[in-house]
Amino acid sequence: MSVITNIEDLRVLAQRRVPRMFYDYADSGSWTESTYRANSADFQKIKLRQRVAVNMENRSTASTLVGQKVAMPVALAPTGLTGMQHADGEILAARAAKKFGVPFTLSTMSICSIEDVAQHAGEGFWFQLYVMKDRGFIERLIDRAKAANCGALVLTLDLQILGQRHEDLKNGLSAPPKLTVANMINIATKWRWALGMATTKRRQFGNIVGHVQGVSDMANLAAWTAEQFDPALNWNDVEWIKKRWGGKLILKGIQDVEDAKLAVRSGADALIVSNHGGRQLDGAQSSIEALPTIVEAAGRDIEVHMDGGIRSGQDVFKARALGARGTYIGRAFLYGLGAMGEAGVTKCLEIIHKELDLTMAFCGHTQLDAVDARVLLPGTFPTPMRSV
Ligand code: GLV
Repeated sequence: MSVITNIEDLRVLAQRRVPRMFYDYADSGSWTESTYRANSADFQKIKLRQRVAVNMENRSTASTLVGQKVAMPVALAPTGLTGMQHADGEILAARAAKKFGVPFTLSTMSICSIEDVAQHAGEGFWFQLYVMKDRGFIERLIDRAKAANCGALVLTLDLQILGQRHEDLKNGLSAPPKLTVANMINIATKWRWALGMATTKRRQFGNIVGHVQGVSDMANLAAWTAEQFDPALNWNDVEWIKKRWGGKLILKGIQDVEDAKLAVRSGADALIVSNHGGRQLDGAQSSIEALPTIVEAAGRDIEVHMDGGIRSGQDVFKARALGARGTYIGRAFLYGLGAMGEAGVTKCLEIIHKELDLTMAFCGHTQLDAVDARVLLPGTFPTPMRSV
């Protein structure tokens, strides 16, 4: 195998090693995938200003997110079915994040349970919550996250209903996969993956199966989501969740100025500008395009984070320049995980860190705190949009 130097290398390797159904689940968006593509494409349009003869010694990418120290302002995003990209995927990713000094966010829809991951995660162990109709289950999930010492709760607000993802429907996505002839033929070519799966006991949704009455079969994921997720979720729910949780609260899925203002009013510690990686409302604007408008609307009472389209440290740098205190990587770390397990996630973090550090230096800075839109070439980056 040739030397891995960037995230695209990890993606190519993951595509070879992960069964198609799970690779496609990660690497696709909803409907025409226009928002999914725009998330990365819009980063490419932004140009940087190189400075020279600036002392570049003693650089640091360290920062804080919701008051917690991080080696760089990059967290691992909550991604569903991570333990299907690689056996014990959530545990491996949490370990890599801990060693690197960045947060790992465990999804409600993970394969490894909160309790399992807690044994391997560090201080930056965050939990992402989906709100389901069964409020007793949600209360118990919050309590489990508290008992596991999670440092922040990431409440997802943009998935009361599921955007239609053609690939998942065509592939008949389920976890564990149904042993159809097509799946078996595909899995037969992925021996590393199959070996890992054969030797782990974690093959179902660890936070859910055994914790919600009557739930043992989540075979049809789209149908299960439609049945269990609460379409009635609203800002009153945010209030009771905040109260019950009592710790740092991060609201994920904000794209609109009005929602940003409501997020500030809710008293949350941070909001994440996100279109769910282009997996929900196709046709929505990219996250990096939405970012400056949300930063302006949010003011100083809440941290603004963003996700969507980040495939390099340069993207992290551009997001930071446009006012994002923190960023999240989803697919980038999943590619690393699918390609090489824990070592692949570490590789992903190293690649992004190096790109971020060098870009910061080329643009004339040694610390991220001083970075703002002046490092970007005027006319090439998005600016706040006025609403009509
Ligand atoms: C949510 O977990 C998703 O599949 O985007």
